[in-house]
Amino acid sequence: MLKNLILVGFMGCGKSTIGRQLSKALGYPLIDTDARIVAQQKRSIVDIFEQEGEESFRDLETQTLQDLRDGRCHKRIIATGGGTVLREENQELLRELGFVVWLVAHPKTILERTSRNKERPLLQTEDPAVTIAQMLQERDEHYRKSAHLVLETTSLDFSEITTGIIECARYHYGSQ
Ligand code: S3P
Repeated sequence: MLKNLILVGFMGCGKSTIGRQLSKALGYPLIDTDARIVAQQKRSIVDIFEQEGEESFRDLETQTLQDLRDGRCHKRIIATGGGTVLREENQELLRELGFVVWLVAHPKTILERTSRNKERPLLQTEDPAVTIAQMLQERDEHYRKSAHLVLETTSLDFSEITTGIIECARYHYGSQ
């Protein structure tokens, strides 16, 4: 059984920040799938979307998860891109890799965090608040199907979130 902790959730829900905290608390190295794709491709996500389109980026996400699974990646924190869960194939790969946590944040928090830069091609629209609301609705079932744990983060600070995830992961692995 692969004992990784995998974070899924919408853009700006805190996957990278919480991933870093979990990595520090458990001493497990952090793997950020977006960063891995950028390093392998030697170009930004914006460039990949512009030059080849979203589906090519999704292929790279699937390939990254397959590589982690085939490489028997173990005891890692894996922070994923917000759309990784869209493919059913990826949902299965994520669950094969370990304990999957869906981080849920309030749409206002998402808007605030994601409006700080232009690195997310899917949110460069006329009205990002509307785009976020639509995408959250469309993606809900995909996150739900992928995750072992749904964590509503709005009223929690980062250390509470980290502690909660670690406890739940222990319980999950202990009961298998
Ligand atoms: C995406 C989320 C981004 C990145 C890409 C597409 C999405 O990652 O993978 O821009 O479809 O939700 P973050 O969730 O880390 O911003």
